[in-house]
Amino acid sequence: MKRVFNFSAGPSALPIEVLQKASEEMVSYGDSGMSVMEMSHRSSFFTDILEEAKSLFKELMNIPDNYEILFLQGGASTQFSMIPLNLLNNSNKADFMLTGSWAKKAYSEAKRYGEAKVIASSEDKTFSYIPKVDKKDFTADADYFHICVNNTIYGTRFKPDTLPETGNVPLVGDMSSNILSEVYDISKFGIIYAGAQKNMGPSGVTVVVVRKDLIGKEKDFTPTMLKYSIHAENNSCYNTPPCYSIYICKLVYEWVKNLGGVAAMEAINKEKAQKLYDYIDNSKLFKGTVVPEDRSLMNVPFITGSDELDALFVKESKKAGMENLKGHRSVGGMRASIYNAMPMAGIDTLIEFMKKFEQENA
Ligand SMILES: Cc1ncc(COP(=O)(O)O)c(C=O)c1O
Repeated sequence: MKRVFNFSAGPSALPIEVLQKASEEMVSYGDSGMSVMEMSHRSSFFTDILEEAKSLFKELMNIPDNYEILFLQGGASTQFSMIPLNLLNNSNKADFMLTGSWAKKAYSEAKRYGEAKVIASSEDKTFSYIPKVDKKDFTADADYFHICVNNTIYGTRFKPDTLPETGNVPLVGDMSSNILSEVYDISKFGIIYAGAQKNMGPSGVTVVVVRKDLIGKEKDFTPTMLKYSIHAENNSCYNTPPCYSIYICKLVYEWVKNLGGVAAMEAINKEKAQKLYDYIDNSKLFKGTVVPEDRSLMNVPFITGSDELDALFVKESKKAGMENLKGHRSVGGMRASIYNAMPMAGIDTLIEFMKKFEQENA
C-alpha cells in the first residue's frame, strides 16, 4: 500500500491508526451489522458515538460546563455568518483583527449584518505578523471581538498567552487550523469554531464551542438552521448531522487521548515545528516568511527567492514521496502543513530533502 507524506493545508493527513480502525469498522460497526454511514442518526449506536465524541472533546480541550459543544455543517465559512447573526444583538458592533484571508472573510460577512470595525491589520506586509493592539482602540460595547487564531495560509498564530484581552466583550476564535494542537484556555473565549478537515477529521463537520449565555439571542430573521439555539436544544440533531465525519472525529479524539492529550500533542508539535524552523533559519537557500515570534506550529511557509527554484522544489519533492508542498498562491513559494497527524518521520524526510536540494541548488 502506498502512503506519502501529505503536507496538505486541508483536507489533510489523518493518523494512520484512525484510518485503519475506520477500515476495520467500515462494513459493520460493533455488532450493529451496518456501517456508521448507513445507520439512523437517532439509533442508539449513533447516539453513543455522538455522546462519546462530545465528552472526549470536552475532556481534551478542558471545556468548562457553561459551554455548549455543537457539531454543525456548512464548514467554518458558515460560522462567518452564523456568528454575527447570533451575537450582534445589543450594540450591533463587532471588532476584527485582519491577520489573513479567513479573518477578512469573517469581517466582510459581519459587515452585512452590523457595524464591523478593523482594530488592526497585517495586510501591509502580506500578513506575515500578528499586529500589536492597544486596548483603548477596542469598541467597549462591542457584541464580540473576532480573531483567526491560526492563519493557515500565512503561517502565523496568536499564542495562548498573546490573545487580545477583551474583558467583557466575548472573544471569538477561528481555530480551524490549530484545534487540538496546543493548550488554549477556552474560558477566555465566548466562541471557538473549527472546520474538522485539518486537525480533527474529514470535511463535512464543524465544531462550535459556544458559551451558553450567548445562545438564544439571534436576530429575528436568522434562518432556523443558523441559530445556535436550535442546534443546542436538539443536541446537534435538529436535522441529520454529518454522522460519518463525527464518527471519524471521535476516533481522532481517542487517538489524541491515547498520546497523552493536547498538552502531549503540543510538546510533539513544538518539537516538530522547531526542528523545521531551525533548519530554515540556518539554511543559505530557504527563508521563512513570518516573523519568528508569531510563527504557527501547524503551517510553515518558506521560499527560496526564485520562482523557478520553488517550482523545481515542489516537483522534485513529489518524486521523493512528499505531496502538497506548494505554497498558497497569495504567498508563493512552499508551505509545509504539519498538523497533529504528521509524524516526526515526515519532518525528518522533508529536512533531509531540503538539505540535498540546497546542496544541489544553492
Ligand atoms: C483558518 C480557516 N478558517 C476558515 C476556513 C474555511 O473553512 P471551510 O472550508 O470549512 O469553510 C479555513 C479553510 O482552509 C481556514 O484555514
